Amino acid sequence: MTFEGTVALVTGAGSGMGLATVRALHAAGATVYGLDISPSVADVLADLDRATGLAVDISDSAAVDAAFARVEVEQGRLDVLVNAAGVNAPNRAALEALNDENRKIFDAMKAGRKHDSELFEFISDEDFDRVMRINLYGTFYTMRAAVPLMKRNGAGSIINFSSAAALMGVTMPAYYPASKAAVLGLTREGAAELAPFGIRVNALAPGAIDTPLFRQSDDEFAEFLIGMQPIRRAAQPEEIAEMVLFLAGPSASYLTGQTISPSGGLVMV
Ligand SMILES: NC(=O)c1ccc[n+]([C@@H]2O[C@H](COP(=O)([O-])OP(=O)(O)OC[C@H]3O[C@@H](n4cnc5c(N)ncnc54)[C@H](O)[C@@H]3O)[C@@H](O)[C@H]2O)c1
Repeated sequence: MTFEGTVALVTGAGSGMGLATVRALHAAGATVYGLDISPSVADVLADLDRATGLAVDISDSAAVDAAFARVEVEQGRLDVLVNAAGVNAPNRAALEALNDENRKIFDAMKAGRKHDSELFEFISDEDFDRVMRINLYGTFYTMRAAVPLMKRNGAGSIINFSSAAALMGVTMPAYYPASKAAVLGLTREGAAELAPFGIRVNALAPGAIDTPLFRQSDDEFAEFLIGMQPIRRAAQPEEIAEMVLFLAGPSASYLTGQTISPSGGLVMV
């Protein structure tokens, strides 16, 4: 599949699946803009001749608009938008609390005990807000900025990263599954509204993918999660990038509004 002559914008481009997607799109011939909150994104993408790394916090709508304005000025078009930026915890303290909780669940299981998590009443307004602002609002901001550019082309493909956690009942701080389920709402509404303009919108809902985000969990807990999947391994980010390219390209021309779950069979939709 070739993406020669096309322009793509990928968020979360500095790490994991976003980075693998930038590399795959670039290898297929696309010119790629990679956005990441981490300023190191420019260095991370420096070896790719047709890629530009931009330090942008996607929860800042003005910064998102400025990045798309730059794409418009420099390229005059946008063919593919991939929303891979996301967080499972809003800050280090929340991440440590999540890991502690996972350890308690896991230790209880190993000891043949039950452990009843208590998460809801301890989620602060600030933490809920921050995760929503990144995972949901950020996805909305980039879609809103991409639509006029894609409409002008009469074509475009948008791929949003949700999560298997949005499709299952899992015990974890509610901001993550809530934000990722809302991304599916954006995806479906976008698919319905934008199809007449030649724009397709689909979502991926991954399970265990071997990225820095996944490896933030304890190794033992990560192995436990992998063990729940019929295919008992974590996928490599490059495997997911291949799916993004499939959804972005002409082979998926009749697919829109879909959620594909690369989760080793954990979620069967
Ligand atoms: N790894 C998994 O197992 C898994 C499973 C299900 C869903 N996901 C989702 O897949 C997507 C990619 O995850 P990954 O595992 O590659 O994670 P990752 O942490 O390796 O990469 C995510 C990137 O997003 C960037 N980012 C975070 N907040 C940002 C912001 N406000 N603005 C711009 N960039 C920001 C980070 O700096 C990072 O470079 C995420 O949306 C994640 O929620 C991951």
